[in-house]
Amino acid sequence: MSELLKGVNVFLIGMMGVGKTTVGSLLATELGYRFLDTDILIEQVAGKTINQIFAESGEENFRQLESQVLSEVSAYKRLTIATGGGVVKQHLNWSYLHHGLIVWLDAPVEVLIKRLKNDTTRPLLQQPNPAQELQRLLDERRSLYAEADLHIRVKADDAPQEILSQIISKIPTVLKSASIDSATRN
Ligand code: S3P
Repeated sequence: MSELLKGVNVFLIGMMGVGKTTVGSLLATELGYRFLDTDILIEQVAGKTINQIFAESGEENFRQLESQVLSEVSAYKRLTIATGGGVVKQHLNWSYLHHGLIVWLDAPVEVLIKRLKNDTTRPLLQQPNPAQELQRLLDERRSLYAEADLHIRVKADDAPQEILSQIISKIPTVLKSASIDSATRN
């Protein structure tokens, strides 16, 4: 598989709580790639948690850091990268994502709501009705996520290993796409 990919990075996109970090790290091991998580890198660059960045400098500042980190990681090869759920919102970010293979992990909003019920680490959900906000964000972003090269449907009871197997089996179907061919020429 990694020979087929020729070192092209794999970006995981999708809503918070869908499992990008867990699945991304398994995928990296499977491919013999390094694993990176843009949220963790942002926290390292800023020296603050994501909650602190949102509270002290606002979402706009967070989005700038997110783009900066994405541009830096996309210069490397052989990476599997878990991105933050809002990465798809900025047009500029797509120029970085399209350097690699983009995989959308897509779970029903009910699954996300259940998983994130007691979460305190996502600033966008620290409000009276997080379930409604998750639905709103998904409605707003669905057509952007759908720009991914691969669409992986995640069911409530899917184990990370099953999601990994789905990704691995589908990668060859998109490797001939123009974006991947052009990425390997860069
Ligand atoms: C966000 C998702 C989070 C993080 C930030 C904003 C979003 O990442 O980047 O809280 O806008 O959906 P995860 O998708 O890894 O939770």
